[in-house]
This record gives sequence, C-alpha cells and structure tokens, in this order.
Amino acid sequence: MTELINFTELTHADKMTVLAWRNDDRIRFNMYSTDIIEESSHLAFIESLRNATDRVYFLVRQDGEPLGCIYFTDIKEKNAVMGIYAAPDVKGAGKILMDVLLLYAFDCLRVDTVTSEVFADNERAHKLYVKYGFADISEKTVNGRRVKIMELKK
Ligand SMILES: CC(C)(COP(=O)(O)OP(=O)(O)OC[C@H]1O[C@@H](n2cnc3c(N)ncnc32)[C@H](O)[C@@H]1OP(=O)(O)O)[C@@H](O)C(=O)NCCC(=O)NCCS
Repeated sequence: MTELINFTELTHADKMTVLAWRNDDRIRFNMYSTDIIEESSHLAFIESLRNATDRVYFLVRQDGEPLGCIYFTDIKEKNAVMGIYAAPDVKGAGKILMDVLLLYAFDCLRVDTVTSEVFADNERAHKLYVKYGFADISEKTVNGRRVKIMELKK
C-alpha cells in the first residue's frame, strides 16, 4: 500500500527522517539550494506550508516504509512544478514515487501539464522523467549549472 502524508501532518520522527534525506549529499547536490539545512529552518519551512495554497509536500510510504518525498511548487490552475527525492538507501523508489506523483498531479490537482527542472548532469532523474514521457522544452542556468526544463502533458 502506498500512502501520501502531507508534511504538515508528519510526526516529529518523520520530520527528522526527511531532514536527514534533505541533508544527504546525494539529494542536496541535486537541489537548487545545496546548503546544509538546520533543524530549526526545516521545521519553520514545514510550518510555512500550513497556509500555502501554491505548494504541497508529501512523504511517501510503501507498506509502512518511508520511500521518499514528492512535492509541487508554483501550483496554478493548469500547471504545477514537480519535485522528487528518494530515500538515499532505497533501491528502485523512483518509479513508485513517479506513479504516485503523476496520479496526484492529474487526478487531485487536476492540472494539464507538469513541469520538472533537472540539472543536466543528473542523468538518473532525467532518465526517469523521459521514461514517464517528459520532454525537454528549454534550458536555463542556475548557480552556474545547466538546468533542463521538462514538461509532461496529461
Ligand atoms: C531522482 C530519483 C528519485 C530517481 O529514483 P531512482 O530510484 O534512482 O530511480 P530508478 O532506480 O528508477 O532509476 C532511474 C533510471 O536511472 C538509471 N540510473 C541509475 N543510476 C544511474 C546513474 N548513476 N547514472 C545514470 N543513470 C542511472 C536507472 O538504471 C534507471 O534506468 P532503468 O530503469 O533504465 O534501469 C533518485 O535518484 C533521487 O532521489 N535522486 C536525488 C534527488 C534528485 O536528484 N531529485 C530530482 C531533482 S530534479
């Protein structure tokens, strides 16, 4: 069974699990902000989500085991920007996370398109997105690194 738990409803232990993942080099270096995240700013970030309508973050559990996180930012009527990270030591989480992410985007948010932004050197994520039908639509540079902007239409 796959469960989505909104960050605003996480237990303290789950919040700490997510913080450890965010600070793991394998995840951190693929994010726009690569700084180590302090516990206080992690908790403040989660609190800030309570009143947010344009973004939503979930911990994904598979048969009780925390598998990773999916999220949407810049949610608009027809489009949302997606994000994803797998628990660093879990193998093959990507596909389960993508399945649930797209289900949420198209059935719950009811957007027409999902956008992803991925560093050009992040082959693993790029390959996963291509497998799910995302197409490269443009590029930009963030912190001196090339970023591919990809899109999937419903
Ligand atoms: C992106 C992420 C969720 C993908 O999850 P995953 O469990 O690694 O996904 P998969 O195991 O299905 O791998 C996806 C594909 O990349 C391939 N791959 C694995 N390691 C790779 C590597 N080092 N280089 C290139 N491709 C790689 C896999 O073989 C797989 O392809 P296949 O299905 O043809 O075998 C996960 O790698 C992650 O959390 N990365 C860190 C955070 C991140 O980069 N998030 C995305 C930011 S845009």
